[in-house]
This record gives sequence, structure tokens and C-alpha cells, in this order.
Amino acid sequence: MLVSAEEMLKKARAGHYGVGQFNINNLEWTKAILLTAQENQSPAILGVSEGAGKYMTGFKTVSAMVSAMMDELNITVPIALHLDHGTYEGCYKCIEAGFTSIMFDGSSLPFEENLAKTKELVEECKKRGISIEAEVGGIGGEEDGVVSTGEVADPEECKQIADLGVDMLACGIGNIHGKYPANWAGLSFDTLEAIASKVGEELPLVLHGGTGIPAEQVQKAISMGVSKVNVNTECQLSFAEATRKYIEAGKDLEGKGYDPRKLLKPGFEAIKETVKEKMEMFGSINKA
Ligand code: 13P
Repeated sequence: MLVSAEEMLKKARAGHYGVGQFNINNLEWTKAILLTAQENQSPAILGVSEGAGKYMTGFKTVSAMVSAMMDELNITVPIALHLDHGTYEGCYKCIEAGFTSIMFDGSSLPFEENLAKTKELVEECKKRGISIEAEVGGIGGEEDGVVSTGEVADPEECKQIADLGVDMLACGIGNIHGKYPANWAGLSFDTLEAIASKVGEELPLVLHGGTGIPAEQVQKAISMGVSKVNVNTECQLSFAEATRKYIEAGKDLEGKGYDPRKLLKPGFEAIKETVKEKMEMFGSINKA
């Protein structure tokens, strides 16, 4: 069932587990995540970045593919189709294209502008039954070869954005996108605690950069108010590794091993495995 993320995340917040957002890139990614969610009776969120949307020829294509695929595969578990790190314009495009959830990432804007644009988009989404995620405090990463430990959000700003009625809030707590450096300091639980107590017991918080955070830290964050964990790079790494093994073993040269349906199968299976591991880690299995 293609639904907004509102209810699945409210249930996750109340039940102290997390729902995974798994980013999609193409048909194989989408199919792997949908089937894994169904097999494990888990809710899931399909994340689409603006770059991935463009790669798949546009948000309308993505929306049509996801809803047709859910129909053909008889997917009955709750699935949200969500824009990841959307710009203001991108949010409107996804609303028009039939996405059931959006993220407006105004974290790089002056705070007053982030607040005003988030407010407007919250009103638009409420009218249409679409869920909305906002962001305070950027999620770090590598810049010019300098790896930051990840920004931490200001709890007071989080409260102001939360009060606009967003369905979920992404806030920097030392997390970063991509692989974590060996000397990463870990998540800032003091910041998470301060944010969770400011925004209240009910608002689902979002942990970006889910790739490579040790399970104990992810689970502790979930116990403190994180209800959505985003995973992107890890599926890419497992897909690439399985595909490399297939080619390095010369399997593409055996019989019709070059057939794309065969060539992409090990990577497809590897994504399914990664998604299942994350669902187990987040506690969302059998929570559909
Ligand atoms: P990773 O690529 O680090 O898993 O982060 C995913 C993410 O946060 C998408 O918004």
C-alpha cells in the first residue's frame, strides 16, 4: 500500500522501533526493497534524491514505476514514496508527481528562510495528506578532503521547526552521509537527548547517514526518539561488491551470463540482504 509516512512513523515512535528509508536508483533497487519489505512484513520508505529522480528521467517516471510495481507485486505492507533532501522547487514537483512524502531540506538556508519555506510546505502537504520531513543543522560529510564529524543541530531551532507541524525532523547529531572515517567521534547522544526533550515525546526524529553506524548506536538513538533511519551508501556498496565478484569470476562470459537479468541478479540479492539486515537492526520486521 502506497501511503504517507505519517502513521507508520507515529507507530514506530510509540513502539520504540525504526523504519528504514532505503534510497532507490532504478528498477532493481525498487524491486529489491519492495520484495524485502513484503517478505519481512515491514513498513519501508523509498527515498528518492533529486539526482536519482533525474537519473530515472523524472519524478513522474519514479511515481508511476513505484505504484505499478506495487500493484504487480501485490505489495500490501505500508510503503511511502519520499523525496530525499528536496529543494523548494523539487518538493512541489514531487507533490505534483504523486509522491506520498517529501523532505524539504532548508538546512543550508538562513534559519528564518528555512522556517518560512517549511511552514508553507507543511500547509501544502497537510491539504493533500502527504507527510513532510524538515531538517535543522546540516548532515556533514567530506569537504575538500577534510572529514567533519558532522554538525549538531540547535535544539531551540528544532523546536521552532517541530512546532510548524512537520511529521518528522532530521537533525544533525554528529552523523554524516557516506562512509564514516576511522576517527569519527560517534553520535552525540547529549544533543539527541536535548532535542528529543525540546520537541516532545511524539515527534519522530530522523537519523540520516545510516550507513556504517554501529548497531548499538543506532539502537540507542532509536530508543531515544529516532523513528526513521536513512540508508543509501550501504546498498550501493553491497550491490557493487556482488557485481564485481560476478564479473571477476568470469561469470558474465559463461553461457549467457552477460544477460542483464543474470548480470544484475547477484547485486539485486545483495541489496535484499542489506535491507533485511537493517530492518532487523531497526526492529521493523513484522510491524507492517
Ligand atoms: P548514507 O548514504 O550514509 O547511508 O546516508 C543516507 C541518507 O542519509 C540519505 O538521506
